[in-house]
Amino acid sequence: MKIGILGAMREEIEPILKLANADKFVQYGKNIYYFGKIADNDVVIAYSKIGKVFSSLTASVMIEKFGIEKLLFSGVAGGLNPNLKIGDLIRASSLCQHDLDISTFGHPFGYVPEGSRFIYSDENLNKIADEVAKDLNVNLFTGIIATGDQFIADKNRKDWIKKHFDADAIEMEGGSVAVVCESLGIPFFVLRAISDSADEVAGFDFDSFLISSAKQSADFIVSMIERIK
Ligand code: ADE
Repeated sequence: MKIGILGAMREEIEPILKLANADKFVQYGKNIYYFGKIADNDVVIAYSKIGKVFSSLTASVMIEKFGIEKLLFSGVAGGLNPNLKIGDLIRASSLCQHDLDISTFGHPFGYVPEGSRFIYSDENLNKIADEVAKDLNVNLFTGIIATGDQFIADKNRKDWIKKHFDADAIEMEGGSVAVVCESLGIPFFVLRAISDSADEVAGFDFDSFLISSAKQSADFIVSMIERIK
């Protein structure tokens, strides 16, 4: 099985590069794609750069050029649900785009014609994640992840996103990667570890917890890939 592992920032994939012995790489479309092995699986690993456009590009290249058969996203997120604390893991049941807005024309936020407001992640990968969490005795939260091209550090915007999407966490790539994978028929999974609470101190918390939270997520993803046949 050939599996894509995607992050947005170098810090989010660095721990995986080491564990996968990914020392071969190629540069394509201004990103670097690393090749390695985890258990019996071939892995293609990359960070896209931050945001929906870059992550869509990188996911598409992984699928169309490098032939990945599943995609797992690893990274950090801001917590919207008050039960989520820094370092906690959340897997996306579904993902949406909170900044997609043609409400002027009577459409709900996050919707454009012929698209879906919410895109659901792969059931088999979710099941593997739940088994890994149980075996490692790790608390794995499941919820809605909202994506947009904004770093949220503001209570009003945070509350707005919670209210309109019932979202539990917020980040800047999962929803766009979900669109690409669903469109191209590739099963996908999105995991995030909380780095901040999207409030007024989110920027400070993000800088403080990026590395540790990214590693929490990366280690979990590697344990999942070890189980994929
Ligand atoms: N990723 C991590 N924290 C975030 C936040 N507060 N807003 C958007 N993306 C994030």
